[in-house]
Amino acid sequence: MDQNEFIQRRQLLMEQIGAGNIALIASAPDRTRNRDVEYPYRQDSDFYYLTGFNESEALAVFIPGREQGEYILFCREYDEKKALWEGAHAGLEGATEHFAADDSFPIDDLDEILPGMLENKHKVYYPMGRDGELDHQILDWINNIRKQSRNGVIAPGEIVSLEHILHEMRLFKTASELKLMRRACQISAQAHKRAMLQCRPGMYEYQLEAELVHDFMNHGLRSVAYPSIVAGGRNSCILHYTENCDQLNDGDLILIDAGVECDHYAADITRTFPISGKFSDPQKQLYQLVLDAQLAAIEQIQPNLPWNKAHDASVQVLTEGLLKLGLLEGEVSELIENEAYKQFYMHRIGHWLGMDVHDVGDYKLEGEWRLLEPGMVLTIEPGLYIPTDCQTVDKKWRGIGIRIEDDLLVTENGHEILTSDAPKTIEGIEALMQTAERT
Ligand code: GLY
Ligand code: MN
Ligand code: MN
Repeated sequence: MDQNEFIQRRQLLMEQIGAGNIALIASAPDRTRNRDVEYPYRQDSDFYYLTGFNESEALAVFIPGREQGEYILFCREYDEKKALWEGAHAGLEGATEHFAADDSFPIDDLDEILPGMLENKHKVYYPMGRDGELDHQILDWINNIRKQSRNGVIAPGEIVSLEHILHEMRLFKTASELKLMRRACQISAQAHKRAMLQCRPGMYEYQLEAELVHDFMNHGLRSVAYPSIVAGGRNSCILHYTENCDQLNDGDLILIDAGVECDHYAADITRTFPISGKFSDPQKQLYQLVLDAQLAAIEQIQPNLPWNKAHDASVQVLTEGLLKLGLLEGEVSELIENEAYKQFYMHRIGHWLGMDVHDVGDYKLEGEWRLLEPGMVLTIEPGLYIPTDCQTVDKKWRGIGIRIEDDLLVTENGHEILTSDAPKTIEGIEALMQTAERT
């Protein structure tokens, strides 16, 4: 991502904060996996969105109108020994030279320097509740300033949620963000195709997971956007299944929910396909129903339509279909009103997508579902999950779990499907898998 993009974001934020106020945001901490070993570092999305700075132990400060510079970055000082053991880090000079900070200070001096920056500010914009220690520190600093009121120093009177401004900005994707998201989506779609081609009865779920990771990494993308779900047979009915350790049985379906991250932007794709390469009749019937529901929902992704329309469309199609196939009994309108479908479709149609897989942004404004607008990116992912112990349905349906998930950009005229490279029609999937069986 170009530095100019970060500069523009900071300017926009600064305009919204307004002179006389201050905003603070901290980087994500390093997290311990086990003794002396850390998890791979992932920067906090809000912090990265504003700074492009990929180190822990940093705090970004924004002070609109500050004469010596509006953007201040507290970070680790350059340490040769640390560089030798752990690799390069920016240091104070790097923060100003490469990350366009107007000023940089050692993070170890936060306690001495930051209180002075809070003096005489009205509001502190800050994401409260993420880091208890920093929350306390900020309150302590403000209380200490209050004690100096006799010297004419004014303490900030309000702490305001920074997220409100920031998340509304993040909800609308710019051209350079979309470029990264398109790449994440295309490579993820390709990885799903690879999984379809490599899938054989008798393999283990983690072996297919390895095929996905192979494709991600081979394209230079090192991090999955979330732990991959590779769920054969009845495991597909466990919504957050990530064990991925069972053997794949001939005749079962497999549900794969996997996506990669490209420079902090996520893809999120689910495909469900037959392990043998051929759908059985009951699998075909349920699969086509989920696909019809997905297509009906996708039609509702247009500017000026409320976000819940897509969900409602999927509920309508799924309920009618479940009734027709005999999994539900009664009147469509009543079944929808009583939410009878929820025993088989228990989640909503999708979510915003961006730097976080379940991305930020309000779904309702003043109590009403918000209208879709160009630049928003979201997932559409209806599913049906028939528990193995569901006594009310014919045995042939039990243990089948199906989800079909695509990522969509809302455009001026409708939408663009960013993940369409991964086949999802019955014919498309069978045709692709057949090519593998022949070679
Ligand atoms: N992969 C997470 C989700 O589909 O919401
Ligand atoms: Mn999703
Ligand atoms: Mn998903």
